[in-house]
Amino acid sequence: MRSHDNEETLMIQASSPSTSTLNANSDLSKLVDPVRADVAHVEALLSSNLIDDNPFITELLAQIFSAGGKRIRPALALLCSRATLAKGQEFGQVHIILAVLTELIHTASLVHDDVIDGASLRRGTETVNRRFNDRIAVLMGDLLFAQASICLARIMNPVIVGIYGRVLGDLCAGELRQMKQQFTTSVNWDEYLRKTIAKTASLFAAGSHSGAILNGAQDAIIETLKVYGLKLGICFQIIDDLLDVVGTSDQLGKQPGSDLRSGIVTAPALFVLERQDRASGKIVELIKTRAIVSDEGSQEAINLIKEHGGVEATLEMAHKYARESIESLVAIPASGYRDSLAGLVDYVLTRIN
Ligand code: FPP
Ligand code: MG
Repeated sequence: MRSHDNEETLMIQASSPSTSTLNANSDLSKLVDPVRADVAHVEALLSSNLIDDNPFITELLAQIFSAGGKRIRPALALLCSRATLAKGQEFGQVHIILAVLTELIHTASLVHDDVIDGASLRRGTETVNRRFNDRIAVLMGDLLFAQASICLARIMNPVIVGIYGRVLGDLCAGELRQMKQQFTTSVNWDEYLRKTIAKTASLFAAGSHSGAILNGAQDAIIETLKVYGLKLGICFQIIDDLLDVVGTSDQLGKQPGSDLRSGIVTAPALFVLERQDRASGKIVELIKTRAIVSDEGSQEAINLIKEHGGVEATLEMAHKYARESIESLVAIPASGYRDSLAGLVDYVLTRIN
């Protein structure tokens, strides 16, 4: 059962995520150790061709899944599934398929996202749309969604079908919301949050609480893991938005500043825009004149964000969601799996270091 000591450790981490604490817990490989064998099963299934044994399709699947990726979402699904198994209950193929499903949907959405963004590089590797063309990339994304549907059917649980059906809708709605907001300079935090939840946190939440549903866990446990995944997902996207401003090409596997060049205004810029001073006026001008789409214009916006507190304010916002994510874990029985779930929050934050 839950030990008071463990609860206290979690609370301390949650209330003061100091750099030393973060570093101590943020080695992704160590965090995944408790589900290492499961991850190997997931990895083998990910690139398996369930649809058509055409060699071109098989080669494309191999290319997409060998391009790397941190596999955070399947790790979440596996850790949460194992953390909520009742005494005597077995971890089974259904939990593995849940993790595969979660990563397939993520990967499919990225293949489509790269078409929408006209991106050439992802994870340091040529995107499918770049290597071939948009039509092939759209169809490969669709094929991955089809593989995900087969996984969903194999899980044979209508509640999980509903959750992941909702996630698919959220992903599309999030992208549409983002498109509608392009080159908008008014500050609307509610809209930023709704978009962030739809495009990223919805899938994190699904991956985090679906295993508990399959395990027949208590409603309170299911709800707490949903909150954990939701807050972690928001934190993840805020850090992603920040990395676009402060990250390097090496770190990102693509050119930084791509959000700004596309007129996508995220937290770091919003914090400066809401100041309504000279710095915000300059960013408004860069966006309204479309100067921001050039390398010089986006670099000027990045400099303004860095010089006027956009980075610090965004980090603080990410830390708030990280704390809330970790705090929700207190309701989960103490275990090595729960420790890894807490560590994953730290890992997401330290991506910025
Ligand atoms: C990456 O965000 C993209 C997403 C998180 C979701 C994209 C979703 C779609 C394209 C819709 C998917 C379609 C269906 C049918 C469900 P980003 O552009 O902020 O990150 P990046 O820098 O990694 O590209
Ligand atoms: Mg993108």
